[in-house]
Amino acid sequence: MVQLDNSKIVILGTGGTIAGTAAQAGDNIGYRAAQVGVDQLIRSVASLSSVLGEGNLVTEQVAQVDSKDMGFAIWRELALRCAHWLADRTVKGIVITHGTDTLEETAWFLQSVLQPGKPVVLTCAMRPATALAPDGPQNILDAVTVALDPLAMGVVAVCAGVVHSARDVQKDHPYRLDAFSSGDAGPLGFVEENAVRWVKFDEKATYLSVDSSFFAIESIVDSMPWPRVEIVMNYAGASGAMVDMLVRDGVQGLVAAGTGNGSLHQDLEAALIRAQMAGVKVVRASRCAKGRVLSHSGDRIADSHGLSPVKARVTLMLALLGLQAASPV
Ligand code: SIN
Repeated sequence: MVQLDNSKIVILGTGGTIAGTAAQAGDNIGYRAAQVGVDQLIRSVASLSSVLGEGNLVTEQVAQVDSKDMGFAIWRELALRCAHWLADRTVKGIVITHGTDTLEETAWFLQSVLQPGKPVVLTCAMRPATALAPDGPQNILDAVTVALDPLAMGVVAVCAGVVHSARDVQKDHPYRLDAFSSGDAGPLGFVEENAVRWVKFDEKATYLSVDSSFFAIESIVDSMPWPRVEIVMNYAGASGAMVDMLVRDGVQGLVAAGTGNGSLHQDLEAALIRAQMAGVKVVRASRCAKGRVLSHSGDRIADSHGLSPVKARVTLMLALLGLQAASPV
């Protein structure tokens, strides 16, 4: 059982399917995401007050979006609210309710910017709040259980009873309740009957003092608009046309989602090298769901240090802002 420590848990709502509603209770795909407020959501988690104790819960609605529409303005606000609450000594941890579609990007962004010594737990649902058997309430309870755990720290994701690191978490199924994987790395732990069974710790994560994370937050807050970084994919018959167009359009960074070990069609690679010579920062990741790009001498485009294309994009954007991200590209 989780030990009650009289500390506060803050739940920040951002929308997603977890806050979605459908006209018919059995409809798990024809619903509208981001309809139910975070206060109403937590009322559906009957045992939350007994796990937390009276007066130990704070909620805030930071945004209300389908996470396919997640953007920099919300990330900025979310990072600010997290930094605010992390600095509060009475707060044990933060839970963020989020859509599943871009959860892994928000998780990596927050880990890179905050690198928090306290837990920041993103959770979600694959079924709307109006489903016959919604998964959101259990996921919220599990996320709070992780946030209360004395060993929890850093940004993690909790879905279907599994705890994933921000670095490795990836949505790998469009429908199943257990829609996330940590790939080759495997999960950090499991939530079982209001307790966390850790199977490993995230050796790659780094944690900052509250003061250092405020420094990172101030830099991103003062830097709107953020640098434009786009992703281009390699595939049979890929050309350099998209890259040339993006360079003409003023792109500042490009992540190439290469095939296999980050390989690129010769025409795409030539365009990326032209872009690099024109001053655009270019990074090569793999479109494979598992594994990482293994670099070798003579590579003309740097690899993403094991980050997926979408996370490499976040890291490259922060690097262009002059921030040392949790795992530099
Ligand atoms: C979203 O990402 O906001 C919609 C999909 C989901 O949460 O599963």
